[in-house]
Amino acid sequence: MSYIPTTADKFSFGLWTVGWTGTDPFGGTTRASLDVVEAVDKLAGLGAYGLTFHDDDLFAFGSDDVARQKQIDRLKEALAETGLVIPMVTTNLFSAPVFKDGGFTANDRDVRRFALRKVLRNIDLAAELGARTFVMWGGREGAEYDSAKDIQQALKRYREAVNLLGEYVTDKGYDIRFAIEPKPNEPRGDILLPTLGHALAFIATLDRPELVGVNPEVGHEQMAGLNFAAGIAQALEHGKLYHIDLNGQRGIKYDQDLVFGHGDLHNAFSLVDLIEHGSPDGGVAYDGPRHFDYKPSRTESADGVWASAEANMRNYLILKERAQAFRADPEVQEALAEAKVAELSQPTLAAGESVDDLLADRSAWEDFDTDAYFGGKGAGFVRLQQLATEHLLGAR
Ligand code: GCO
Ligand code: MN
Ligand code: MN
Repeated sequence: MSYIPTTADKFSFGLWTVGWTGTDPFGGTTRASLDVVEAVDKLAGLGAYGLTFHDDDLFAFGSDDVARQKQIDRLKEALAETGLVIPMVTTNLFSAPVFKDGGFTANDRDVRRFALRKVLRNIDLAAELGARTFVMWGGREGAEYDSAKDIQQALKRYREAVNLLGEYVTDKGYDIRFAIEPKPNEPRGDILLPTLGHALAFIATLDRPELVGVNPEVGHEQMAGLNFAAGIAQALEHGKLYHIDLNGQRGIKYDQDLVFGHGDLHNAFSLVDLIEHGSPDGGVAYDGPRHFDYKPSRTESADGVWASAEANMRNYLILKERAQAFRADPEVQEALAEAKVAELSQPTLAAGESVDDLLADRSAWEDFDTDAYFGGKGAGFVRLQQLATEHLLGAR
């Protein structure tokens, strides 16, 4: 298998990723800003199929209509020349001082109304550019101090905002779905909808839940100590994986936004295996964009930026090839059978079996030999994990 990306791989990048100039809370920029036309040209040249952006990545916050339109036209021209597409658009409700206490859930009602206007305007742009997904990352929706934010009311305002946006795209006839991106903290001390699970529970309470899914990011779930691939499996099982942010994170610390594969490699392997092939018995796989939301390290030069963009795609393709080899290995199939992985897809009660039937089944209780599980009936999970590790390391 070739590790050279093609548009069929559906790799996309945020303009803010390759365009990141290297600032952090302790130091300023280490690279010049990147023009959108160069970003489109370079990404297309590397084999990506899509570019995504926040409004403020394309035209500075507060731009007048002429400056805004000029940038949109420049982007459109670059897209027409390269064939790159815009699968997703998102709104920046976190950088400008006005959003220091959030957008949809700021205590200050005027800020909330302004935030809604900013998003509505950007949804129109998303529709104009053919984007099918609109991501909502509420980085500033949260607080540092418990007494400063009424969480129940904040959730009501969040719901009010998302319901209003759902009504808007429906009325306009836009073919756009929303994807909420959870994150536990940073920049706020605590962010609302901190994990994928919180977001799924919230989505179920919306007026139009079918219009809203999740955009989980590898590093964000891992910042909360969670298993990303397992979370993705749950999102898929609920039919809610509308988009995905791929990157790397090493443990519970600040949001590292490393290159995909430069963090928890075992979990990255399981993730690629899952989204490419579905569960072992062929569950739902994901066919949306493979979107990289990473930050080229501030140590890198402009050339290093493009090398890191390439590294994301290359790592994904290597992991895809490794996952295929894992699945095709007869020893793995045998180990999967020994570990009874497929048996989990069998319903626990037989078709038509009732609670009374279960209560009458002596083999389920009276005659069931629980002692056999002490020192016996090994599950064989470690053998399976070792086989996965050897495939991951290229040793098989
Ligand atoms: C982060 C977030 C952002 C969002 C992006 C989309 O910096 O922690 O991942 O990169 O994905 O703002 O809205
Ligand atoms: Mn992040
Ligand atoms: Mn992200």
